[in-house]
Amino acid sequence: MSTTRQEFIDFFPQLTEVILSELPAFGATPEMTSRIKEMIEYNVMGGKMNRGLSVVDTVKIMRGESTLPADVNEKAMVLGWSVEWLQAFFLVADDIMDESPTRRGQPAWYRRKDVGILAINDSFILEACIFRLLKKYFRSEPYYIDLLELLHETSYQTELGQMVDLLTAPENDINLDRFSIQKHGYIVEYKTAYYSFYLPVALALLMTGTPAEAPVFQVAKDILIPLGVYFQVQDDYLDCYGNPEFIGKIGTDIEDNKCSWLVVQALDRVTPEQRQILNDNYGRKSPAVHAQRVKDLYVELEIENVYRAYEDKSIAEIQDKISEVDESVVPKEVFTAFLNKVAKRTK
Ligand code: IPE
Ligand code: MN
Ligand code: MN
Repeated sequence: MSTTRQEFIDFFPQLTEVILSELPAFGATPEMTSRIKEMIEYNVMGGKMNRGLSVVDTVKIMRGESTLPADVNEKAMVLGWSVEWLQAFFLVADDIMDESPTRRGQPAWYRRKDVGILAINDSFILEACIFRLLKKYFRSEPYYIDLLELLHETSYQTELGQMVDLLTAPENDINLDRFSIQKHGYIVEYKTAYYSFYLPVALALLMTGTPAEAPVFQVAKDILIPLGVYFQVQDDYLDCYGNPEFIGKIGTDIEDNKCSWLVVQALDRVTPEQRQILNDNYGRKSPAVHAQRVKDLYVELEIENVYRAYEDKSIAEIQDKISEVDESVVPKEVFTAFLNKVAKRTK
């Protein structure tokens, strides 16, 4: 099943070409076209592609075939890349909002001298590309409108999550009372779980002929949202403890005053004195001693051990839910395949 990876990568230039080839009809000059090509290649490629590949894998599992007919395979890859394109759209904007220096081992797009604030509009263009591709490949399918609604719904959920993420993290206004486990739960469910976990499977279900109102979508959601929450907790953990060379980005959550899983767990365990230390050091862009003091406090509170326990508990809970799935509705493998990619990840 993992042989799809190279095939998936090899298909990408064809999709970029679809976007580029229609640009003259939009009055684009060669300069515009080559800039858009560079922008797409810089931002859509270079990730782990787990989300995109999951669409293809899920289509295979749903059809019970390890090799798909060429036309089905092509459609599955288009939907897979549409998730990757959506991710690129969100990440270009996310890095501006979070002032992140790096992404996927290179400077964040907005950081390039020739880009800057134009990156905002580039993120809109990346979003528009998704709908160009869907139109090209799915316009005549009976489930076309369901694909569109699903993508719009998922984007909206992600944008609501991003809004709360940012509202909870104002610059120069530290108030630890804003953070809570419940608030963190909303943020991670909305900003990450829907688009990263539910979306790939829901797209594959639609493509394999599942009616949009079928109960299997709720079954999938009940497993994939908790899995996505666990994934974002890992992201919060790796922001502080991951190896930047490995995860391809430098963490900024402490400096950015983010309602991270680490800080809400710390707040659950602090003494009044330790809370004061957090209050005096969290959310400061510089000097670096502030962030270091927060990290030292996490060590004192043994947050890494809290994380290990959380990981084991989440994995066990998700496995329990998967074991209850009625395989006459959907194969368990749809979910185990996903869980195995994510469990105990270090990047
Ligand atoms: C952003 O979450 C999620 C979306 C892109 C919608 P983060 O801000 O934690 O993502 P990273 O850590 O920058 O990748
Ligand atoms: Mn970010
Ligand atoms: Mn993060």
